[in-house]
Amino acid sequence: MSHTLHFFISIVLCFVIGIHRVQSEITYIEARYPLRGTPSAPNAPWPQPQYLNASLNLTYIDPDFFIVYSNLRNCDVIDKAIERYQPLFYPPKLTIRSPDTFDDSRVLISVLIEIRSKKCDVYPDLHDDQSYNITIENAYGKITAENVWGALNGLETFSQLLFITDDDYLAINASVTIRDWPRFPYRGLLLDSSRHFLPVPILKQQIDAMSYNKYNVFHWHLSDDQSWPFVSKKFPQLTEKGAFSPDHVYTPEEVQDIIEHARLRGIRTIPEFDSPGHVAALGRAFPEFLTDCYNGSTPNQAIYSKHAAREIIDVTKDEVYKFMKEFLQEVKDTFKYEPYIHLGMDEVTPACWLSNPNIQKFLKDNNMTNGTDLMTHYSNKILGIAKSIGAKSMVWQDPWDDGVKLPLGTVIGIWKDTSLLPDSPPWSYFLSKATSEGYDTVLSAPFYLNMIKYGKYETNDSVMNLEFFRWYNIDLFANFTGDDAARKRLIGAETTLWGEFVDGTNSLSRLWVRASGVAERLWSSIDVNNPEDAQFRLDVHRCRMLRRGIPAAPILNGYCGPYEAGMKQSMVNDPIFSYID
Ligand SMILES: *[C@@H]1O[C@H](CO)[C@@H](O)[C@H](O)[C@H]1NC(C)=O
Ligand SMILES: *[C@@H]1O[C@H](CO)[C@@H](O)[C@H](O)[C@H]1NC(C)=O
Ligand SMILES: *[C@@H]1O[C@H](CO)[C@@H](O)[C@H](O)[C@H]1NC(C)=O
Ligand SMILES: *[C@@H]1O[C@H](CO)[C@@H](O)[C@H](O)[C@H]1NC(C)=O
Ligand SMILES: *[C@@H]1O[C@H](CO)[C@@H](O)[C@H](O)[C@H]1NC(C)=O
Ligand SMILES: *[C@@H]1O[C@H](CO)[C@@H](O)[C@H](O)[C@H]1NC(C)=O
Ligand SMILES: *[C@@H]1O[C@H](CO)[C@@H](O)[C@H](O)[C@H]1NC(C)=O
Ligand SMILES: *[C@@H]1O[C@H](CO)[C@@H](O)[C@H](O)[C@H]1NC(C)=O
Ligand SMILES: *[C@@H]1O[C@H](CO)[C@@H](O)[C@H](O)[C@H]1NC(C)=O
Repeated sequence: MSHTLHFFISIVLCFVIGIHRVQSEITYIEARYPLRGTPSAPNAPWPQPQYLNASLNLTYIDPDFFIVYSNLRNCDVIDKAIERYQPLFYPPKLTIRSPDTFDDSRVLISVLIEIRSKKCDVYPDLHDDQSYNITIENAYGKITAENVWGALNGLETFSQLLFITDDDYLAINASVTIRDWPRFPYRGLLLDSSRHFLPVPILKQQIDAMSYNKYNVFHWHLSDDQSWPFVSKKFPQLTEKGAFSPDHVYTPEEVQDIIEHARLRGIRTIPEFDSPGHVAALGRAFPEFLTDCYNGSTPNQAIYSKHAAREIIDVTKDEVYKFMKEFLQEVKDTFKYEPYIHLGMDEVTPACWLSNPNIQKFLKDNNMTNGTDLMTHYSNKILGIAKSIGAKSMVWQDPWDDGVKLPLGTVIGIWKDTSLLPDSPPWSYFLSKATSEGYDTVLSAPFYLNMIKYGKYETNDSVMNLEFFRWYNIDLFANFTGDDAARKRLIGAETTLWGEFVDGTNSLSRLWVRASGVAERLWSSIDVNNPEDAQFRLDVHRCRMLRRGIPAAPILNGYCGPYEAGMKQSMVNDPIFSYID
């Protein structure tokens, strides 16, 4: 291009850019209760970065002349991420106009990902630096990070900054400065593969959606009363007898596939094998491990609301510990880079144990009197086994708040709350107590996303989606009584989607975009807490997730511009709409 042409084009562009409007993707339609809050930028990142400053002028991208590259060579995490993000940079099913008439300084040529640590063959860890910076200056962009995981966070944010303008250009703000890091290092999501089976492709989509929201721990609840889907090489009878069917299982190859899918997105996979309660499926393979619960002198009797007929492990049996040692060793070998195994230990019914004559004798012989003594016995054994095979333990809070002395270093999951159990203290009580006693804790109680509610949250002059508001508005340190050191022991939180009423048909849309609200609470600054503004940004993010193939449900009325699932254009070739031609 000649200089004169350059010049004239620049002049013309000054005007064009000056009146440039951005395409509004969201049309919020609410007649009687207008929403409060500031409408979102079309490319507002979610969760909100700690520091973001972007100019209003734009620079443009030509998909054919744009590269993202890194200073690390042959680093699979980064190479695969760059490849994976290509289709996310360029929204599908849309024609993007080439910006070749623009001055070169208005075209973003490249983004360099500069990573300080050269380590590539790594697995994400709680203590990793997850921070990153982004700078865009007209033609060039840079993402800097300490390590590959920070770089992935940066790449995700960068991908969210790209958007399509009204006149069909792919654009990003010409000058952007972002410095970003998470508020909590542990941002988990629990999926339950036992009460219902969740197919591998759905799990992968869940993990993708997690990465779009900067979640970094996949807590995989892999056993319970209903089914045992995890195929064990040492104990094939577990799935032969414990799975719903031979199809409702995760083979060793599939498990590795999930772990690797998550790792490449900076997400740890922590397996949970719950015991000594929630083991009916284990009992189908090993009936002899379970306690016969009695009614008086009659064995195998359920007493409604007290205990089932056979539901918890008989802690007096040596063969249980022999099995556990071998099985947990296999688990450790399977999830080999993940330091933690979640051992469950929730919701045990001591009434069953205490009803059993063999256990009564065991209590007497060992100078024990009650369920807590039995749980202490089991806990010492099982945590000892975990330690002996080199695993760290996570447990639900139950043994600890029943008085079992857990070794420090055990991570405690706080799930109990008055809202779930009317006689329970609020979660803030447990959180203050556990952290003050020196335990690292993960908070799930206020984030039970399997609990659904329909309706509006209304104040005197504002109305919001109740579901969004109640997750977004949680103050993790509400009524917290611990000191600063205790505060630091809240390492993060975990969104749970228990599986009673969830399977492959609805798990994605039930969780998203609701779980995104929690994601911002866990990542962004404590000051990012205005739900009236956030709802607009989240709606933009919901449309973004939709474009990426996650069937995220809406939180506001309106539509997602031309990108929405269900638009005639996007129905074509979408298997869910196979009757359309
Ligand atoms: C944001 O960047 C602009 C230049 O692009 C600068 O003038 C302004 O001071 C910056 N704002 C903050 C809060 O740093
Ligand atoms: C965009 O605006 C910033 C200041 O906000 C300025 O530094 C930069 O040169 C502008 N870029 C273009 C391409 O006009
Ligand atoms: C980018 O610029 C547009 C105006 O061109 C503005 O509406 C938007 O808020 C900016 N994006 C961000 C993330 O600040
Ligand atoms: C981000 O920028 C800040 C301020 O310039 C700097 O202190 C920090 O080290 C940078 N972080 C990364 C990951 O590059
Ligand atoms: C337990 O046994 C008592 C006495 O035999 C009987 O009355 C009661 O119905 C039994 N309870 C259940 C739940 O079976
Ligand atoms: C139980 O207590 C008695 C009396 O204190 C003691 O003699 C015995 O050794 C204890 N047994 C066990 C198994 O600890
Ligand atoms: C259980 O029994 C032990 C002694 O065997 C006692 O220290 C403890 O307080 C008891 N716990 C409960 C909940 O009754
Ligand atoms: C905090 O305390 C207030 C007042 O007692 C109570 O209403 C609220 O439920 C408590 N919240 C939590 C999370 O404990
Ligand atoms: C009514 O709304 C205004 C504006 O949000 C707020 O300042 C005020 O506290 C609210 N009053 C009540 C009773 O909720």
